[in-house]
Parts: sequence; structure tokens; C-alpha cells
Amino acid sequence: MRVLVTGAAGFIGSHLVDRLVADGHRVTGVDDLSTGKLANLADARRAKGFSFHRFDITSTDLLTLVARDRPDVVCHLAGQMDVRRSVADPLHDTRTNVLGTVNVLEACVRTGVPRVVFASSGGTVYGEPPSVPVTERAALRPASPYGAAKAAAETYVAAYARLHGLRGVSLRLGNVYGPRQDPHGEAGVVSIFAGALVAGRPTTVFGDGTSSRDYVYVEDVVDAFLRCLGGKGDGRRLNVGSGRATSVRALHALVAKAVGAPDAPEFAPPRSGELQAVALDSSAARRALGWEPAVTLEDGLARTVDWLRATRKR
Ligand SMILES: NC(=O)c1ccc[n+]([C@@H]2O[C@H](COP(=O)([O-])OP(=O)(O)OC[C@H]3O[C@@H](n4cnc5c(N)ncnc54)[C@H](O)[C@@H]3O)[C@@H](O)[C@H]2O)c1
Repeated sequence: MRVLVTGAAGFIGSHLVDRLVADGHRVTGVDDLSTGKLANLADARRAKGFSFHRFDITSTDLLTLVARDRPDVVCHLAGQMDVRRSVADPLHDTRTNVLGTVNVLEACVRTGVPRVVFASSGGTVYGEPPSVPVTERAALRPASPYGAAKAAAETYVAAYARLHGLRGVSLRLGNVYGPRQDPHGEAGVVSIFAGALVAGRPTTVFGDGTSSRDYVYVEDVVDAFLRCLGGKGDGRRLNVGSGRATSVRALHALVAKAVGAPDAPEFAPPRSGELQAVALDSSAARRALGWEPAVTLEDGLARTVDWLRATRKR
């Protein structure tokens, strides 16, 4: 298949590219390198069947590339992914996450690309869910510009299906973690804790540590994208998470154990706007895609810590 990946140089996008290339697909990557790194694509760029283009997804370069490339599917992951930045600069967030998505959808429609797979956010589109684990039937009540933008972008994906017949699926990802993650954004807490503990620096838990999230390993997320390439998820919005709510305090203990460091975080006042509890019921993804997370939090943390240690040595 010919697959175009936006956000290819980012944390999740680069893992997706690596897997697609390994599976023999012809892959085109797009990224403006605003947070992504070319180093994440080092392996892919040495492989046959991969090309990389640096530009902003809101620009007309996208249409030109898609018209030339004619992919069978676009995996759209380029985005501004920092919730706090979306609060500080909502216009920038909207431009990238909403206008960028509309530009991707328009390029697909104008050039006859049949399908998109969109990286939405299960951790933010529901806001504070009425109960956890939350199913896709819960109302969308985002509590940040980032969550609102993801909810809007999903709605555009659905509208383009009805209006133009562009097939699409929105994957509502939990807090994704794993190698190559930068220590900011939605799920940066794993890399923040792990990076600090590996380096022997102190760690801070904001609030009383009871707020909880659904952590999902990056390879499991990549697997969910792959399962959508052939159309199994078309027309759906699917949660992609572990179903398990892990408190920040418990996460710290698990990361400390994986590192072999003392589990002794400092505590600081809570940060405003933080949600209390999110966990995602992914049974719809299991039924539609046959997807289930394969990597436990303990294993995923061990792999992340191994990667951090290996990259520190270089
Ligand atoms: N990491 C998570 O826990 C998580 C959870 C839910 C959803 N998501 C979504 O998944 C996607 C990938 O997230 P990530 O964690 O890999 O973050 P990331 O920041 O590593 O990746 C995003 C990539 O998009 C690129 N980008 C940003 N704006 C761009 C623009 N205007 N034009 C072209 N490229 C642009 C960045 O340079 C970066 O490489 C994002 O859309 C994010 O919102 C992430």
C-alpha cells in the first residue's frame, strides 16, 4: 500500500513509519519538525520505500504532494499535542489541529484518496468522564482547547465521510508512552519521571497523586493504526487504551521500580485544569479491529527505561 503519514518525525508517527516500512509499504512522511526530530526517522530514511517532506500541513504543499503521491490511505498524526500550550495559545492549537486536519481532508477529497486514519485523543475529548472506563457513547465535553480541537477534527472526519464519501476513522488514543517520547505534552509524565530517575534527578508529583490516566504503549497504538489501513474501522470513532486507570503516584512507583531508583517524589500544589480520572473502554476497537493492547504497563515501562539508558550512553 502507499501510505502518507503526517507527523512522521514525531513520537508516535515515527514508530508508525518504521512499522509500515518494515511491513513493505511505500511510505511518505510529512512533518514541519516543530516538535518532531529527523533523528526519529534515521532507520526509515536508510530504508527503501520511504521519502520525507518537510512542510507545514496547513500549507498548499500538502495538496501538491498528495496529488503527486496518490496514497491509498493518509494516517494523520501531525498536530500540536501539548494541552497546556493549547490553553496558553489556543489559536496556534486551532490552526494546527483543526485547520491542519481540514487541509488534510480537502487534499484527500480533491485527489481521490479513499481513506484517512486520524489520531484523536481519548484523554481529552470526553473531559472529565461521567464514569471510567469511558465508552465512545459518552458525551464529548472537552475541557481544553486541545480537546475541543480534537473533537472538532473528528467531527470534520465524519462530515467529510457524509459529504464526500471520504472513508475515515478517528482513533481516540489514551496517554501514549514509550521510546522517543519528549517530556512534554499529554503523556509526558512517563518520560519526565523516567528521564529524571535514570539521571538521578528529583521528581515532582503535582497534587496528591490520585489523578489517574490510561497509559498505552506506542507499539500497541501503531498496531491499532495498521488494523485500520484496510477499512475495518471506517466510519468509527474508537477508544484505544488499556482500560486501566493508573494514578500518578502509582505510575511513579512503577517507573521507579523499572529504573531501580527510590520511589520518593516531591509533592507540589496541583496544576489548574488537570482532569481527575480518565480510562478508556476499548471493547469497540476489539470488536471492530480485533485490537487489544499486548504490552503491559510494567513491560512498556521497562522497554522505555532501556531505551532511555541506551540513548544516554550515545
Ligand atoms: N502522545 C499522546 O499521548 C497522544 C495522545 C492522544 C493523541 N495524540 C495525538 O497523536 C499525534 C502524534 O502525537 P505525538 O505524541 O507523536 O506528538 P509529537 O509532537 O511527537 O508528534 C506530532 C508531530 O507533528 C508535527 N507537526 C506539528 N505541527 C505540524 C504542522 N503544522 N505541520 C506539519 N507537522 C507538524 C511535529 O513536528 C511532530 O513531529 C498528535 O496529533 C497528538 O495530538 C497523542
